[in-house]
Amino acid sequence: MTDEERFRRHGEELAAALAAAFPTWLARRLDDRLRATGIDPGEAADGRAAAVAAAAAELGAGLARLCTADIDEQTDTPLSLVRRAIAGAPTRFLDEHGVPRPRRDEMDSRLLPDDVHALGPATFAELGPEVAEAAVVWGAAKAHLHRRRHGRPGGPSLGSAPVPDAASPTEPTAGTPGGGSLPDLTGVEGWLTLEQAERLRRAAAAVPPGGRIVEIGSFRGRSTIVLATAAADGVEVIAIDPHGGGDRGPQEIAPDPVRGDADHAAFVANLERAGVAGRVRHVRSPSDRAHPHVADPLDLLYVDGAHRFGPARHDLAAWGDRVRPGGLMLVHDAFSSIGVTLALWTTTAVSGRWRHRGRVGSLAAFERVEPTRWGRLAQVGWHLAQMPWFARNVAVKVLLSVGLGRLTPLLGHRSGDWPY
Ligand SMILES: C[S@@+](CC[C@H](N)C(=O)[O-])C[C@H]1O[C@@H](n2cnc3c(N)ncnc32)[C@H](O)[C@@H]1O
Repeated sequence: MTDEERFRRHGEELAAALAAAFPTWLARRLDDRLRATGIDPGEAADGRAAAVAAAAAELGAGLARLCTADIDEQTDTPLSLVRRAIAGAPTRFLDEHGVPRPRRDEMDSRLLPDDVHALGPATFAELGPEVAEAAVVWGAAKAHLHRRRHGRPGGPSLGSAPVPDAASPTEPTAGTPGGGSLPDLTGVEGWLTLEQAERLRRAAAAVPPGGRIVEIGSFRGRSTIVLATAAADGVEVIAIDPHGGGDRGPQEIAPDPVRGDADHAAFVANLERAGVAGRVRHVRSPSDRAHPHVADPLDLLYVDGAHRFGPARHDLAAWGDRVRPGGLMLVHDAFSSIGVTLALWTTTAVSGRWRHRGRVGSLAAFERVEPTRWGRLAQVGWHLAQMPWFARNVAVKVLLSVGLGRLTPLLGHRSGDWPY
C-alpha cells in the first residue's frame, strides 16, 4: 500500500468514526442547551433530529471531499469541518427556539466567528476516544506524507519576511540556500510579529541535526509552527504548555479550563493544518514540572510562557541552565512585561552566562557563554540601555488599560495595540 493509499484509508476511518459519534454527541449538546433554557427536549425532538441529520450530512460530504483531495489541495481540517457543520442547521435550530447565544471571549469570537452558540467541540476527545484516536492517526499520516513529498513538514510559503536584526554568525539568513522562509501563519492566533517569527525561524534553522529545540508557552501554535517548519530533519522539537487557560495573554492570569481546552484544540488543529503535528512533541504541563520529559542539552530555548516574575525567572534560570554553551535562548515580552524584565535582570543581566544577541521588538536573543568579568559588565550595560524602551512600554500599557490609548502616539507608539 502506498503512503497516499494509507493516508486515504486513515481519512476514511476518521470519517467513519465521526459518522458514528457525531449525531449522538450533537443531539446531546442541543438537548443540554434546550434544557438550560427551560425547554423540554421532547417537545422539540423533530426539529432537533432534522438539524442533527442536516449537520451530519454536511459533515459527511465535507469529509468525503477532504479525504479524496490531495494533501496539497487540502485547506480544511476535520475539526474545522465539524465546526462548520454545527454552524449551519443546529445553530438555526437553537435560534428558532429562542436559546440565548452565550457570551464568548474575543479570541474565540475571532477564531470561530460562526460558532455563535459555542457548540463546537474544543477537541476531538469530546466526541469519544475512537474519534480522537482516528484524528491523531490521520494527522500523523498527513505529516508523514507531507514530509516525504516536500522534504520536511510545513505549510505553503509566504516568501521571506524582512530580516530585521543582525544574525548570529552561525545562523543562516533568509534568501540564502539554508535560509528557507516563514510558513503561512494566517489565522494562527498569537502575539509573535512576523519580524519576530523570522528571527525565531533563523535561530531554529541553525540547530544542527541531532539537536533539540524547546519552546515554553505555545498557546495556539504560532511560534511552534515557525520552529517546527524551520528545524532540520533530526532536530527534536518540544513544546511545553499546560493549556490551562491561565497566564495566557495580557491580563489573562487566572486558570480557566474551558479556555485552556479551546487553546489546546486550536493548537492541535493549527499544527495539523501546517503539516507539523507529527513533528512536535507537546508536553502538556507547566514548565517547572516538565523537566523530566526533556533530555539535555538544549540548542535553542524559546521562552514565552507565564510572564509573572516567579515562573518567568524559573524558565530563564532553570531551563536556561540546560542550554549548551554556544546555544541560544530567545525571550518574548522582554523589556515589555514587568515580570519578564525583572526576571531578565536577575538572570541574563548579572549572571555573566549570557551574551545578548540583539532584540526584535520585545523578542530578545541571548547566547550561552562562559562568564567573564567584562562580559558581565557589558551585559548589565546592555540591559540598562533597554530601560527607556521598557519605561515607554509600561506607560503605553497603562494608557491602554485606562482607556487613554489615543495618547500613545505621544510616546511614539502608533499601532494602538499592546506593545510586543
Ligand atoms: C503568550 S502565550 C504564548 C504565545 C505563543 N508563543 C505564540 O507564539 O503564540 C503564553 C502561553 O504560556 C502558557 N503558560 C502559562 N503558564 C505556563 C507554564 N507555567 N509553563 C508553560 N507554559 C505556560 C499559556 O498556556 C499560554 O498558552
